[in-house]
Amino acid sequence: MIRIISILTGLFFTAALLWSLTLDTIQLSKDGLPHTVEKAYVNHHLKDLKLKSDGIFGKFDKAQLKRGFEVYQGVCASCHSMGQVSYRSLAALGYSETEVKAIAAKATVSAKDPLTGEIKDRPGQPSDKFPKVIYAGVGNPPDLSLITKARHGGAAYVYSLLTGYEAQQPAALLKEFPDAKTGENMHYNPYFANLNIAMAPPLASDDLVTYTDGTKATKDQMAQDVAAFLVWTAEPELEQRHQTGLWWVLFMLFATVLGYMSYRNIWAEKKGH
Ligand code: HEC
Repeated sequence: MIRIISILTGLFFTAALLWSLTLDTIQLSKDGLPHTVEKAYVNHHLKDLKLKSDGIFGKFDKAQLKRGFEVYQGVCASCHSMGQVSYRSLAALGYSETEVKAIAAKATVSAKDPLTGEIKDRPGQPSDKFPKVIYAGVGNPPDLSLITKARHGGAAYVYSLLTGYEAQQPAALLKEFPDAKTGENMHYNPYFANLNIAMAPPLASDDLVTYTDGTKATKDQMAQDVAAFLVWTAEPELEQRHQTGLWWVLFMLFATVLGYMSYRNIWAEKKGH
């Protein structure tokens, strides 16, 4: 009796689930998905970007992070802040204490004078965070510290955006959505959420920086390196997390084997008597 009731209950819920699924499908096919610029023309297939920090065994490529920092400093820092990052943390990229001090000292930080309590400008120190950038152009450049976490696709998005500008808008797009026409001081970029971005292509030519490790600074190289660097700024403890994860997997495997062995042991005794 109980078995029949439970089978019936199960059947009832399965039927209810199927019913609601069918209703949803019918509804969707009737309405159709809304046809928007977003759906039709924004390129959601990001370019492929392989980084050494990918995957559960991933580790940062310090040389690449350092190059990425050089791109940030040389190109992006005139518009974008990076307020979550402190100069001190650059040591993780392989900079010595003296180098960190020198990098920090080039910045001007406004901070409280410890003696008078006045807010004053002074050269940066390793313990300071990167100061806020004052920007007076078109649009509003976001702080880049956490951008690879804040955008779907992370580093691949940043890389695609930086290398994805196009000079011409597709004719079909303009015909279908005349409002999507790139306005004055705007730039067409099919990876950007509404296709037209206020940021002019920041990596429009090669050799905008001179890499200290001698790597040729092509547009593509700079885009990859700065994307890799922004993965680090968003999650400097990524390697740590990967390592902890690995230990967890090993521990769980060990616990499973142990569990299985004790199960065998208990039943072996029961069978023996
Ligand atoms: C001349 C100023 C300027 C420079 C230089 C610049 N940007 Fe931008 N950036 C902007 C502005 C303005 C926006 C906001 C665009 C908008 O909302 O339309 C922006 C937006 C962005 C975004 C966010 C896009 C989004 O999804 O919201 C990213 C990522 C970005 N920039 C990365 C960079 C990187 C990396 C560099 C250096 C290689 C750089 N930018 C150099 C001005 C600049």
